[in-house]
Amino acid sequence: MTTKVLLTGASGMLGKMLFKELNVQKRYEVFTVSRTELKISDKHFINDIGDHNQLTQILRSCEPEIVINCAAYVNLDFCEKNQTQTSLLHQRAVSILSSYPSVQSLYYISTDSVFDGQSGNYDEEDLVNPLNYYALSKLHGESETLKKAKNGFIIRTNIFGFNSTAGKSLFEWAYQNLSTGNSINGFTNVFFNPLYVWNLSKMIISFMQMNCSTGIYNFASNQGISKYMFLFKIAEVFGFDTKLIKPIRLDISQMNAMRPLNTTLNTNKINNLGINVPNIDICIQNLYNDFKKDVTRV
Ligand SMILES: NC(=O)c1ccc[n+]([C@@H]2O[C@H](COP(=O)([O-])OP(=O)(O)OC[C@H]3O[C@@H](n4cnc5c(N)ncnc54)[C@H](OP(=O)(O)O)[C@@H]3O)[C@@H](O)[C@H]2O)c1
Repeated sequence: MTTKVLLTGASGMLGKMLFKELNVQKRYEVFTVSRTELKISDKHFINDIGDHNQLTQILRSCEPEIVINCAAYVNLDFCEKNQTQTSLLHQRAVSILSSYPSVQSLYYISTDSVFDGQSGNYDEEDLVNPLNYYALSKLHGESETLKKAKNGFIIRTNIFGFNSTAGKSLFEWAYQNLSTGNSINGFTNVFFNPLYVWNLSKMIISFMQMNCSTGIYNFASNQGISKYMFLFKIAEVFGFDTKLIKPIRLDISQMNAMRPLNTTLNTNKINNLGINVPNIDICIQNLYNDFKKDVTRV
């Protein structure tokens, strides 16, 4: 017997990896959705899930028991300028997914940017204070999940990888510049503890197979790092000149959408569940290994 899973945002940086890893497990029948085609899936819906009618149609067609919601607009400036459209995807769609009768569990991929970044090392009980519309709308999606899903799980995270649909991801931008000898700026005052999308996908699947209580969970690597040091480590592992990374401080007064400075997440809760929380060096090494296998993707 397989369990029917609907994976939204399946063509994205995280969604594509999660799709591959879910299929390794023979226990799931995975349906996917995004607005563009996805050749690797033979049960793919090409739809805008911000459209109520299109989303309901998909749900009727597949009657999923589990939903993993990766769909999002991850460009902060886009979200700031297109708030209605953003809210339809980050909140309204989540409300519909959460309350659909066949859906027993909903896993909502959220973000570390629900915090204002004043202190860092945030645990699941800490007070949120989103600084921009992207983060606020993601928080609204969290609330819909917790209010309406039979079993709602919030996965707060930060990620890196390649194949981002929203243009170049942090890694892809760095790779393209460093590989052509261009210098890039690395913020010394911005801290996070991201996961490579493969590591996160494995962790999510382990989590799904545990009998956990509903609620909020932080998924991150085990130690905070500045964006500067992160890029430095990328350069080292990929064999680029580390002097191309210029240490600078982020001046948030220059940004359209405000950005938090230290969104590191405390991972004690998932650690106590027995989920293996990797360090950043292992994550970067995993990225390197995957990227080398498929360098044409960038
Ligand atoms: N990237 C990060 O740094 C980061 C950090 C923290 C948390 N997160 C969270 O992690 C999750 C995955 O992010 P990601 O980086 O993988 O994003 P991504 O690469 O931009 O992928 C987003 C996915 O959502 C789909 N999508 C967007 N609008 C849609 C719509 N109206 N209807 C249907 N599908 C739509 C996109 O496909 P189409 O464009 O083809 O529709 C794509 O498959 C998101 O929930 C995000 O909030 C990301």
